[in-house]
Amino acid sequence: MPKDFLCLTDWNKEELDRIFALTADLKARQKRAEPHRLLEGKTLAMIFEKSSTRTRVSFEVGMFQLGGHALFLHSGTTQMGRGEPIKDTGRVMARYCDGIMIRTFSQEAVEELAHWSKVPVINGLTDLYHPCQLMADLFTVIEHKGGYEGLTFAWIGDGNNMANSWINAAAVFGFRLQVATPEGYRPDEEVMRRAAELGADVSYTSDPLAAAEGADVLSTDVWASMGQEDEAEKRRRAFAGYQLNRPVLEAAADDAIVLHCLPAHRGEEITDEVIESKQSVVFDEAENRLHVQKAIMATLMG
Ligand code: CP
Ligand code: NVA
Repeated sequence: MPKDFLCLTDWNKEELDRIFALTADLKARQKRAEPHRLLEGKTLAMIFEKSSTRTRVSFEVGMFQLGGHALFLHSGTTQMGRGEPIKDTGRVMARYCDGIMIRTFSQEAVEELAHWSKVPVINGLTDLYHPCQLMADLFTVIEHKGGYEGLTFAWIGDGNNMANSWINAAAVFGFRLQVATPEGYRPDEEVMRRAAELGADVSYTSDPLAAAEGADVLSTDVWASMGQEDEAEKRRRAFAGYQLNRPVLEAAADDAIVLHCLPAHRGEEITDEVIESKQSVVFDEAENRLHVQKAIMATLMG
């Protein structure tokens, strides 16, 4: 088993399925108000270089429910913000804490932190990936569809960190993924190349209706991610035809479910009608961040 949770393709299907099984168990125990203090006395450092609502709250609450403690560290108020090298931060944190969760810009920085830290490092989102979100998304699919095998997934919108993570998930879990992005906003070239090499069943198009065709699960995300605020206007124009709206939903299977990692911009990447529809499971998905991350932490830090 890998020491860290940085990228889905670092793990194999059996290992990730075990995390899903533990997620189901921990969720059931929490719903029954049954103690599950698997990380009694342990501490998680949470480093944030970007904003967050779900990630911060779900990791902090998750550590508390597991009997441990979480520290919120905004990089700007630590020495990291004044240029202390990540390799020193990693070595120092590992002397105090039992795990580190980090949300930052570059995936390389997270990998460097993990290299120098003796304790597990969890990727809480980079410009390239958002693996914890993908685990929550797939766990939500398992709950609503009974599994992910044989399902068709569609991604509509930006070829961003979520799209890259879906491609990794398709490679690891073996499901079919249909990706629609505008030209010029395709997923990361290296991610697509590696998924193809791993035999992933992923197709790429610029037609959202073609990608949605027959899909069991539809997913999208904001058009301008954190750090791309200056491009928001340009992106609004480029993505105008890439909204998850009623025609896209109607192209999918009748019982398709809709995912969105949130926060959502209603009227941009998704309509209010679709996100509030019966087919939308976005709040189950947000809740599952808590349960799946508890399983990830218990697996790595237990
Ligand atoms: N989906 C997600 O990661 O949300 P936050 O940015 O609020 O953490
Ligand atoms: N793609 C978005 C996801 C936010 C949870 C971003 O990186 O801002």
